Amino acid sequence: MEINTDIRLGDSKEILKDLPDNSVDLIFTSPPYADQRKNTYGGIHPDKYVEWFLPISKELLRVLKPEGTFVLNIKEKVVNGERSTYVMELIIAMRKQGWLWTEEFIWHKKNSFPGKWPNRFRDSWERLLQFNKQKKFNMYQEEVMVPMGDWAKNRLKNLSETDKKRDNSKVGSGFGKNVSNWINRKMAYPTNVLHLATECNNKNHSAAFPESLPEWFIKLFTKKGDTVLDPFMGSGTTNFVAQRMNRNSIGIEIVPEYYNMVNDKLETTKLILFEPEEDYEQIKTKRRKAIR
Ligand SMILES: C[S@@+](CC[C@H](N)C(=O)[O-])C[C@H]1O[C@@H](n2cnc3c(N)ncnc32)[C@H](O)[C@@H]1O
Repeated sequence: MEINTDIRLGDSKEILKDLPDNSVDLIFTSPPYADQRKNTYGGIHPDKYVEWFLPISKELLRVLKPEGTFVLNIKEKVVNGERSTYVMELIIAMRKQGWLWTEEFIWHKKNSFPGKWPNRFRDSWERLLQFNKQKKFNMYQEEVMVPMGDWAKNRLKNLSETDKKRDNSKVGSGFGKNVSNWINRKMAYPTNVLHLATECNNKNHSAAFPESLPEWFIKLFTKKGDTVLDPFMGSGTTNFVAQRMNRNSIGIEIVPEYYNMVNDKLETTKLILFEPEEDYEQIKTKRRKAIR
């Protein structure tokens, strides 16, 4: 299967206009947070954040396939001792733009640094907001199943009468559970809290996310040969993971230094991927011969 990794230099607001309608299966991205990293790639004032993001999300809505998903990694910062509300305002504005706010995942940063603040504790989680164009979207839940673990040993051993029969939702959501269905099963569906360590070493980008983060969502929302878009590419984590998982991808980055860094790395990968097979065999044979 031939996989295409297409990276572009420029402002997403403009570059996205070149992408065809309904052509992307998953958008996975972490945009610049409001004013947070002024010294590296310029921030956006919290009061201007929604206004800045909406023209981009309008294009994202156009390029996403109807059954595709948009996952936005974002967390509001603290300004003058208060949490900003721009993420909440953004969700409301995006709903008005036509997006469905389907789900919210939490990325629990397992290894966040210890610290002491006068009026709060260390921040060790971020939001991953899931948006869709329609209620029916592609989701491959079996791909992210997790071992049952201790839960099976403890809770499932002592089931109450309610647990043994279908327990319909008390809030009328139409969902119900029958916990006894899970007895003797080895695997279960995960929760919407992801416990992953941050991993910012050797990436040359101050805000790179761990590879396991895009990996999990790529597994859940795409299959091989699908297309993943990261409109705020940074060090290209989403694209490199997509490539490794046999997904096509598009990355857009406004800072030439980051774009060039990803481009150089992709060139190296290409050289490895497209090394002619005979030559490789010859090298292997030569090496074997030399060892003998
Ligand atoms: C939070 S970082 C993304 C980091 C990335 N997830 C990674 O793993 O390296 C956001 C990136 O968006 C880029 N950026 C900011 N505004 C942009 C815009 N309008 N269009 C494209 N890229 C932009 C920044 O230069 C920065 O590299």
